[in-house]
Amino acid sequence: MQIVQSIEELRAILREWRKAGLSVGLVPTMGYLHEGHKSLIVRAVSENDRVVVSDFVNPTQFGVNEDLASYPRDLRRDAALCEEAGASLVFHPEAEEMYVKDNCTFVDMDSLTKGLCGKTRPTHFRGVCTVVTKLFHIVSPDRAYFGEKDAQQLAVIRRMTRDLNFDITIVGCPIVREQDGLALSSRNTYLSSEERKAALILHKSLLLGEEMMKAGERDAATVKEAIVRNMKTEPLARIDYVEIVDAGTLENVTRIESPVLTATAVYIGSTRLIDNFSFCP
Ligand code: PAJ
Repeated sequence: MQIVQSIEELRAILREWRKAGLSVGLVPTMGYLHEGHKSLIVRAVSENDRVVVSDFVNPTQFGVNEDLASYPRDLRRDAALCEEAGASLVFHPEAEEMYVKDNCTFVDMDSLTKGLCGKTRPTHFRGVCTVVTKLFHIVSPDRAYFGEKDAQQLAVIRRMTRDLNFDITIVGCPIVREQDGLALSSRNTYLSSEERKAALILHKSLLLGEEMMKAGERDAATVKEAIVRNMKTEPLARIDYVEIVDAGTLENVTRIESPVLTATAVYIGSTRLIDNFSFCP
């Protein structure tokens, strides 16, 4: 698998592809790839002539007390997974390549980023929007692929693409889960075996909420309370948030009468995990 570290070299390759009339898909990742990432790459390969997977632990989206230093990395394994999935190349820049020393330009968003994960991670989406904008400018893909696992991120990227007039189709891809229901995440590697069992409470509690909605419950507070109550049966879990929001605006809803996103973030020990489901009444 070809690993490209410089923006200049990547651009030269892209120019050749463009000259040959080839379409390009982009899959942005922070590496330590798993089957969830792979599903995005496989989808991109099926829809584009060439696929670039970016593999970059983006420092600007981590808060000061977050896990930037300990975030898992394994470039060789990532490259093998990309090869297997049919990607064309891996873009793996150093932090200094993506952000020049005196970089002082960021992309920020006024709404969508304040609630849900934005409450505990106030600078996170500024970092995500900035790095994704940079990747969009560097690669200029026809399509870019993001997972529904990070539902708020997907909504933010869709809105940013619209607001900043990127001529790029954003493709959302379904959540890939372990057999027992735990959503795949690079951060699952932080969990001890006891915590790994406890982590199932996210999906189990959300399923309970989804069943209530399917059975006709339309009061958001009632569903939310049931999810929270179920989460609290797990002693190792500490809830960051459980919210039921409008799928487009990410604003809280009281009634479930249009498409909603039910999203949660929960600390299992010191590991913060997220999960969600969408529901159309
Ligand atoms: P990362 O957490 O590595 O995720 C890369 C992409 O894989 C995201 O679009 C994410 O939603 C998707 N993904 C992760 N786990 C998944 C799962 N279980 N099922 C389906 N898709 C899954 O998200 C980021 O990196 C960064 O914020 C990034 C967009 C790369 C910007 O730095």
